[in-house]
Amino acid sequence: MCGIVGYAGSGDAPQILIEALKRLEYRGYDSAGIAVQENGGLTIHKKQGRISVMEETLPKLKATVGIGHTRWATHGEPSDANAHPQVDSSGDIAVIHNGTLENYADLRSRMEAAGIEFNSGTDTEVLPHLIARHYNGDLLAAVRAALGEVTGAYAIVVLHAAHPGEIVAARNESPLVVGFGEGENFLASDAPAIVKYTQRVAYVHNGELVRITADSIEISDMTGGTREPEIEELEWVVEDAEQGGYAHFMLKEIFEQPRALQESLLPTLAEAIVEGLDLNWRIGSISIVACGTSFHAGLVGKYVIEQLTAIPVNVYHASEFRYSPPVQNVGGMLSARPLVVLISQSGETADTLAAARVARQQGSHTVAICNVGGSSLAREVDGILLTRAGPEIGVAATKTFIVQMQALYMLAVHLAYSRKSMDQPQLRRWEQELRRLPHYVGQVLERRTAISKLAGTLQSANSIFFIGRNLSYPVALEGALKLKEISYLHAEGYPAGELKHGPLALLSPETPVVAIMSPDHTHSKLVSNIEEVAARKAPLLLVAQEGDADAQRLSPHVITVPATDPVLQPFTAGVALQLLAYHVADALGCEIDKPRNLAKSVTVE
Ligand code: F6R
Repeated sequence: MCGIVGYAGSGDAPQILIEALKRLEYRGYDSAGIAVQENGGLTIHKKQGRISVMEETLPKLKATVGIGHTRWATHGEPSDANAHPQVDSSGDIAVIHNGTLENYADLRSRMEAAGIEFNSGTDTEVLPHLIARHYNGDLLAAVRAALGEVTGAYAIVVLHAAHPGEIVAARNESPLVVGFGEGENFLASDAPAIVKYTQRVAYVHNGELVRITADSIEISDMTGGTREPEIEELEWVVEDAEQGGYAHFMLKEIFEQPRALQESLLPTLAEAIVEGLDLNWRIGSISIVACGTSFHAGLVGKYVIEQLTAIPVNVYHASEFRYSPPVQNVGGMLSARPLVVLISQSGETADTLAAARVARQQGSHTVAICNVGGSSLAREVDGILLTRAGPEIGVAATKTFIVQMQALYMLAVHLAYSRKSMDQPQLRRWEQELRRLPHYVGQVLERRTAISKLAGTLQSANSIFFIGRNLSYPVALEGALKLKEISYLHAEGYPAGELKHGPLALLSPETPVVAIMSPDHTHSKLVSNIEEVAARKAPLLLVAQEGDADAQRLSPHVITVPATDPVLQPFTAGVALQLLAYHVADALGCEIDKPRNLAKSVTVE
């Protein structure tokens, strides 16, 4: 949450900062601001609203060093005053911050008692005042001393009028990456912000500070110890972070799914597939831990892993797991160590990171399924199964959901084969089917026009229920989440058999039901549930495989997906529901890539 950038070089700093910020707008869009070094002082420009609002009102500035921010409000409502940068009383120190400072209220009241005037309702404002108090000619030392007084999560970038050409940054729990250019260097909360300028990056670790100029990057810790940056080459290219002719990033990312599946598919599932952790031990149980869409991918994974391996799997919301982990893990009392699989596209979700730490403290082995190789989660777990969907900019997760499910299927097949619950011919068959996924998903994408026409059946609804059984239940949850977050229509996902235990009371001609039908052993049961809905005169929109005669009989509104093995249907139905949500939101004129109140990468608790 909140996007941060910093630039030190000889280029047009305001222009570079704004362009980099626009690539980070998915992290927050309540307000935006920049601070640049100009004429021996700092020039600050910030505005409530989108980056474009700040840009349109920006005066002509001549500067080669600066910092920028796009905000997702935590402390203090969105306003010009609460936008970042925040400054000290002299206006010489500007600070941009992502995260939350837990002890800011205490620090603020002590400083106010000492006569310091505050001009915002943010937690961040304590930082420039603290840095000013500790400043004695050495900015890095002052920032280090100030951070010694705060608790909480932060990634910060700091500019001082008396330190031309220099930016100091620091990180604790919130992501921060340094970009190495030629005669210019960069700071950012996420790599897509700077991928246009450089592919060479180094990730800043918790408790570290960085000082950058146009020609130097120095990383140090809170005690003053230094380390050489570990430079990594980004696999992402600038086109990955651009809209490329599509009306929205979400649509582009939906259409990138066949490629994302292809890139993420491992050539063989017989060999070790998790980097850094051998899975050749007796796994007593598996906990899958994630948030939001990643949690839904985990629910699909549970079905498949249990079916193929007979290892019991539980799926937890990371925000629950971190405070109430499953009791059987406690104390490492079991002969077989539990495996905890953490799923996060960003690898920066605060709750998922905290859950990973709890799992490790309990003695579990941890594996991350993650789309960002250098992320905090990727670095903190024992093993990593990297998905290669490329950067996801639309706030609503699409392509990363699909490759998360693919990763879980690969994990299930690998575990089954290495535990001998799957033989070689079965392994080959699975590998073959997984290779066909991009083709099946491509077939769904070809049906976009038909799906967009059916979007009209939901547009004027009061409320919409998504129902499914077995593997289609998590798909229903995800379909409802996608729809509600981008169209603001109320939608709920339910196991179809549960409708009659309460929600049926809400059905009416204004409450459509989207049912996801699959030719598995629950098909006839779902047909009965659909009949119950029809009897209450609720409009029905069905998602069903080609050739499903029941679907054609039950509703005139059917989204058909290709005929596949039912176990692969979460991929095709999942994509169909993404397109459905997209077209409903588009028809309603919603801001699809930046839904209200949301931000990608939830780095606060
Ligand atoms: C919904 C969505 C969120 C994320 C959730 C977890 O479309 O994008 O629900 O899935 O915030 O994010 P990651 O996967 O980055 O941990």
